[in-house]
Amino acid sequence: MQTVEFIDALKTGVDKIDTQHEALVDMINFLIEAKDNNVPPENISFVLGEMTKYVYLHFRDEEQFMFDNFFVGLAEHRVVHESFEAKVLEYQQMYDEGRVDLLDDVLEFLTNWLVQHILGDDKEMVQEVLANRE
Ligand SMILES: [Fe+2]
Repeated sequence: MQTVEFIDALKTGVDKIDTQHEALVDMINFLIEAKDNNVPPENISFVLGEMTKYVYLHFRDEEQFMFDNFFVGLAEHRVVHESFEAKVLEYQQMYDEGRVDLLDDVLEFLTNWLVQHILGDDKEMVQEVLANRE
């Protein structure tokens, strides 16, 4: 599986959000490489767990940013975050329960979701916030 390059098109223009997105991409890439290098499941499980926690913190920071900027789509955006969090947690638990065969699906899901979410919801949100500041 291909690793993800954090290209400029993935940047929203808000440094804190971009730095966190890049850290998430780094974790996904680490997992993709770990899988290809047959890293033991317990190590992968550890990184999956750390990533789950980081996703949680990142979403709360992003929601705080929306709140501070009076973004009207906050509630809707939060629902999208929460359903992703639930999915990541579910995958992580299934992996921990021995479904190591799921890793390909997990990584594909994480990669696609994150890239689509950044390109869509996150960039639109930041554009709207910046437009309202003018
Ligand atoms: Fe988001």
